[in-house]
Order: sequence, then C-alpha cells, then structure tokens
Amino acid sequence: MSKVTAKAVHEIIELTTELTSSQIQSLLDGGWTTESLLEGVQNGLSTYSDFTTLPLWEQRLLKEKEPWGSAPSETVKLAHKRLPMNGTVAEFGFGYGRDLVWLAQRRKRLAGVELSQVGFSSTYKRLCQLPGRKKPGRAPLEGISLVRASIGFGVLGQLAGAYSHRMLHLLDPKTQLPQAVQSMVRSVNLDGFLVIGARSYHDYDASAESLENVVYDKDGLPLKAEYNSPDRPGHILHYYSPRRFLNAFWPYCEITELWHGKELESVDAKNSDGTERFCHFITAVMRVVAHTRNDEPFLQSKLPILQEFPSVSENNASGLRD
Ligand SMILES: C[S@@+](CC[C@H](N)C(=O)[O-])C[C@H]1O[C@@H](n2cnc3c(N)ncnc32)[C@H](O)[C@@H]1O
Repeated sequence: MSKVTAKAVHEIIELTTELTSSQIQSLLDGGWTTESLLEGVQNGLSTYSDFTTLPLWEQRLLKEKEPWGSAPSETVKLAHKRLPMNGTVAEFGFGYGRDLVWLAQRRKRLAGVELSQVGFSSTYKRLCQLPGRKKPGRAPLEGISLVRASIGFGVLGQLAGAYSHRMLHLLDPKTQLPQAVQSMVRSVNLDGFLVIGARSYHDYDASAESLENVVYDKDGLPLKAEYNSPDRPGHILHYYSPRRFLNAFWPYCEITELWHGKELESVDAKNSDGTERFCHFITAVMRVVAHTRNDEPFLQSKLPILQEFPSVSENNASGLRD
C-alpha cells in the first residue's frame, strides 16, 4: 500500500455524503491512502448506516452534553507521556472532545476520527474556543485534522501515535473490530505506539437490573453483556481483559504496558442505592510491529503485569481529576 505524507488538513470533511474531488484531495493530503479511501468510498456509507448504535450516541451527547465530565481521561494523560512530541497524534472516537481539547493545549499536531455529528460539532466548537486559536489570520483548527467517519473507514497515514478511550468495547468483535484494528494499526508508523482504553471485565455488575444476554469466556470472565435500561436500550459492551487486547491486536502490536483505571460511568449515572456509578477500564500501551499479516510475524510470550492508575490505587473516587 502506498502512503502519502501526512500534513494537516485544516478542514472538516463529512464522509457521509458524496465526496467532491477537492475533498478527496484534502483527505489524501491529510494522510489517507488512495487504497483506503477508495475502499471507504465504496463501502463507507454502508459501514456508516450499519452502525446501529449511532443514534444512542447522538441522543446522549445532545441530551447530556458532557456525560463524562470535562477533565481528561487517564488514557490520554498516559498517551501524552508516552507518545513523541514531534509528529501527529490521533484520537479515535473522540466524543465531545474532552481529551482532544486537553491535548490541543499541549501539542501542535493532532488528528481525530469520530462518527457522531453532535460529538463532532461540539469538539469543533470547543477547539475553536481555546485561547489563542482565534488570532487574526490563523485558521482555528490549524494543525488539527478532524474526520467524521467510522474508524474502520480508512487509514490516517504516518502518525507518530494514536489513542482511544472507551470506544473499543463498543465494536462488534466479528463485524467491526477487525477492520477498526487494521485502520488504527496501519495509521501509525511502525514502532509508533497505540494507547487504547476499553471497558474491562472488572466492570461487570451481575446485580444490574437491566443486564441481559451475558456471554462468558472459558475462564468465566464476562465477554459481552447487554444493558437494556430505559435510557440506554440495547447498549452492548464487549469487556476487555489483557488477553482480549492481545488477541484483538495480534499480530500487529506488542503490548508494553497494561493499566487498570476507574472513572464515573457518566456524570448523571447512579446505582440503585443512589451512589455514583463507576466504569472500569484497561488501558493498553502497544507498540506497532507489523502493518499487515504478511509482515514478519511477531510472537509474544507473555503479557506485562496490570498496573493501577491513581483512580484505583489511591481510591480517587471520581477518576476525573487532572
Ligand atoms: C463512550 S464514548 C467516549 C468518547 C471519548 N473518547 C471520551 O472518553 O470522552 C464513545 C464514542 O465513540 C464513538 N464511536 C463509537 N463507534 C465508533 C466508530 N466505529 N467510529 C468512530 N467513532 C465511534 C461514539 O460516537 C462516542 O462518541
């Protein structure tokens, strides 16, 4: 696959409508490959409409505005520490931008992919409102490329690294995950890093009233659960364990660190006894060692130990502080 040099697009491109030739050029300039773009134009719209839970995110982001608060996640803070300062760093599934906005105050070159129109527009507004971005003669999104699409849509080329928080567990392991993993892996340079946080099996609450259709793995860890609460019908979570990360990203990535974290499930979510509801996640730091299955095979013998983020080890209940 040929790649073009990544450079900032300075323009938002809506991938749900037919693309004009100048938009295609702009995407290519932003690092998308011709092959992935053609693939996407042919398949992208159906991928988009097949994404059946999209209305759920649109509704939540419209209604709740900032459901996960405004402080950055522990995943983005770790990504900022681990990823090189030179080069572009991307976020996959940035929601209303709590992490991207935090990072935009610390880094010059960023990219992001998000499917929700509401999330996308809120992030755009938040980025434009950052101090110093409204200088005369300066494009508000200078250095930042935002693409509204499903992450399985294509490949953002030649990134120094990328991260994602609380999105991977939403992807169906058969129909969405393989394509999404390939997009993320192939977007990052070899030896670059992916820092990915996904809801973990620590999260499983057997007593939740809305719980349905739980699937366990052979060791008895929950793999999948459906939560059919009135405010979130059909919300399906695919829980991650260290081994599931290994399987999902094999043979493309070597896992170098694993972290267990905790943050509010959402600002408004409460348990039946009125206490705040938390969500647990595992964040994996992974070095990209192969872009295709034909690259030299990589075999990993063991996983790093699972360390604890301050939200867990210091019993910091909110997990949302800076
Ligand atoms: C739980 S939210 C997390 C948002 C953000 N990362 C945060 O932590 O604040 C999940 C986000 O992933 C987005 N998403 C889900 N599937 C996606 C896909 N296939 N491609 C792009 N975005 C996706 C949703 O629209 C939603 O904004």
